[in-house]
Amino acid sequence: MKAENRHHFGVPILEVQLPEVRARSEEIRQYLEKMRDEDTDGIQRSNQRGWHSGDSLHQSKEPVMQWLTEQIFQVGSRLALHAERKPPETEIFLSSLWANINDFGAWNAPHAHLPCEWSGCLYIDVDENPTEENAGICPGDIMFFDPIPVGAPYRPAPTVSYTPKIGTMYVFPGYLLHMVAPHYNERSRISMAFNFRFGENLTQIAR
Ligand SMILES: [Fe+2]
Repeated sequence: MKAENRHHFGVPILEVQLPEVRARSEEIRQYLEKMRDEDTDGIQRSNQRGWHSGDSLHQSKEPVMQWLTEQIFQVGSRLALHAERKPPETEIFLSSLWANINDFGAWNAPHAHLPCEWSGCLYIDVDENPTEENAGICPGDIMFFDPIPVGAPYRPAPTVSYTPKIGTMYVFPGYLLHMVAPHYNERSRISMAFNFRFGENLTQIAR
């Protein structure tokens, strides 16, 4: 597994490609669309016009969700522990997993995932070659915000945006503010998002 550490704003933003996702993309889409048909309201978080599933898909009995959960746990926990320089035996839990289906024009407002220590997203079906670009931002991009968003001359530009491929996974600290730009493609954009917790914090910090 080859992971890139973007280390933007001095914050670790880890990117890795899970090539197996592409072959199962359609199967996952069909399962999630069926779930949306049965629960059209979904839940409201950062999603604007988009559908957000319940956040316990890591407990699903559906084989394809169990497969995804395993991939995300194995890769995501390893990246988070590596970035924190914690030993591999550190207790870490995948505490939530949900799906986002963004139809034409849907987007996600800026938000962070505190108190979860680490978070991430995995792309199931996205427009890999968006034709439109404005000031370096493409439709459907994920955008991260500098925790000290002062810009020049003290800091880099306050936001950075990435255009994911199918199977791209980003893992980043839960405090890092981010959003999803609207996209204008008739084919819906499908992503999974997740949170990790450190066992020691769950038992030692009162929350
Ligand atoms: Fe998020």
